[in-house]
Amino acid sequence: MFADRTNWNLKANPLSEALAQHRAEGKPLLDLTISNPTECGFDYDSHAILQALANPASLTYDPDPRGLLGARQAVAAYYAARGVAVPAGNIILTTSTSEAYSFVLRTLCNPGDEILIPEPSYPLFAFLADIQDVKLVRYPLDYDYGWQINFRALQQRVTPRTRGVIVVHPNNPTGHFTKPHELEELNQICSARNLAIIADEVFLDFALQVGQPSFTFAHNSAALTFTMSGLSKISGLPQMKAAWLIGSGPDQLKSEALARLEIIADTYLSMNAPVQHSIPTLLEQRHSFQTQLLARAKKNLAELDRQLAKQQSCSRLVAEAGWYAVLRVPATRSDEELAIDLIVQKHVYVHPGHFYDFPSEGFLVVSLITREEQFAAGVKLLLSMF
Ligand SMILES: Cc1ncc(COP(=O)(O)O)c(C=O)c1O
Repeated sequence: MFADRTNWNLKANPLSEALAQHRAEGKPLLDLTISNPTECGFDYDSHAILQALANPASLTYDPDPRGLLGARQAVAAYYAARGVAVPAGNIILTTSTSEAYSFVLRTLCNPGDEILIPEPSYPLFAFLADIQDVKLVRYPLDYDYGWQINFRALQQRVTPRTRGVIVVHPNNPTGHFTKPHELEELNQICSARNLAIIADEVFLDFALQVGQPSFTFAHNSAALTFTMSGLSKISGLPQMKAAWLIGSGPDQLKSEALARLEIIADTYLSMNAPVQHSIPTLLEQRHSFQTQLLARAKKNLAELDRQLAKQQSCSRLVAEAGWYAVLRVPATRSDEELAIDLIVQKHVYVHPGHFYDFPSEGFLVVSLITREEQFAAGVKLLLSMF
């Protein structure tokens, strides 16, 4: 009855079962995995946000497949504020970064074609690829006082069916930026082998260290490049379902890609008018949101370091940017078993590294956007396990 691509294993994994049971028993839990910014006590300008959604222009249906020009111009202004000129014509609005991925994969890949993705990285890729009939091939990120792309392995994994390379810049959950020399190498490989670069920049604005280089791929021109971002992270408004996709690269390839993407976008016209009209205001909200979020993430990181300094079993990996920290912990059992034991014995919930395809056991991921008191108490309990 059903397509093979939906033959997912829908059984709850042991960690979700343990979590559900813990909650059902009404026991307390310090959740260090929170990633929904609307539940973290940040102060939003609710009046401005709600007013923006009530624009009378929304009463008229006047669709543009790439998205309303005023909204695209606001996105262009976001890049202009970083000193980068992105023509509004190169921008296509989507309802999420996930939708942007799906448009790009549909534009690039025939069924069974391959896309390279970083390992470790964000777990949603597997489903996105299944839905588009695309095969994911992983290229390793190596950790050596910071993360870097293993280009030797990346090149070995390119096959005649490879269509593109995904880079998450900065990556989730490792929190590292792609470096300028890595961009150069990616450009060389991708232009020589006719591959597209797909750059996910949802965490670009969240540098945790002063003076961190954070260029954008949005004007990368040496290889066909699709850059995506959106308001879920930039302004902490995932409920608005507003994101975008930018095409750049050699002129002819870029124009052809954008023309094809426009047909896909025109087929769905998925973004509603009220949200499109509100995008200039919603983007403005980023200033206040990012100030609050970065203050909290830096404070939590400092607290984590303070507690780590008092013991010797665990350490944290370098975090350049983003909303997460990666802990190196003794690998005396699988990360999943450890995460379950932490729920049952310490009433703390963290993500095991295997959730993000870390290549070995011994990694846990904690969210830096957790409220400060909860974070400090949760880390204390977590470290008391070792
Ligand atoms: C790297 C990365 N890309 C994309 C997304 C999803 O963004 P959106 O809400 O726009 O689909 C997330 C969400 O956590 C993410 O971590």
